[in-house]
Amino acid sequence: MATAIVVFGSTTGNTETLAGSVEEGLKEGLVDVTVKNVTQTGVEELSSYDCIILGSSTWGLGELQDDFVPFHEKLAKVTLHGKKAAVFGPGDEESFPDNFCTAVDTLAERLTKCGAAIVAPKLKIQTDIGSGVDDAAEEEVKAWALALAKSL
Ligand SMILES: Cc1cc2nc3c(=O)[nH]c(=O)nc-3n(C[C@H](O)[C@H](O)[C@H](O)COP(=O)(O)O)c2cc1C
Repeated sequence: MATAIVVFGSTTGNTETLAGSVEEGLKEGLVDVTVKNVTQTGVEELSSYDCIILGSSTWGLGELQDDFVPFHEKLAKVTLHGKKAAVFGPGDEESFPDNFCTAVDTLAERLTKCGAAIVAPKLKIQTDIGSGVDDAAEEEVKAWALALAKSL
């Protein structure tokens, strides 16, 4: 059975909700999955899993979610050759058209530099500021995770 870790950073709870949908999809695809808040995860843990999935919302103007910043910096010194990886996150395209979900791009770039192979399309989920994640988005994320599971 393939193993995966989902690490999320979330300020108002949306990325955390999406991480739950990723977990559901992976479990349905028979992946042994661990979900952790980035505040409780060390970069050294990542190499214990076959697949590393990082999820961050975007804040400021195209910045990583605050909790993810130190983790992202520490990742620069990590080697993840031979690992599979995927990235997801929510943002608001209407309010931030030029910086929509750029945290997802930042994480994908870093994972690639670490030597991991990104094996699923980068997943950017529209959320309206002040609103939660809608059911359609949760289903989209679950389907993405199930497809990912099949590629592991
Ligand atoms: C002050 C502020 C700045 C934001 N900046 C961006 C941004 O640059 N790009 C984007 O796509 N979304 C941006 N957003 C939208 C958030 O990413 C979105 O609300 C997200 O769902 C929050 O997820 P979280 O609760 O997991 O942190 C911003 C929201 C706020 C309130």
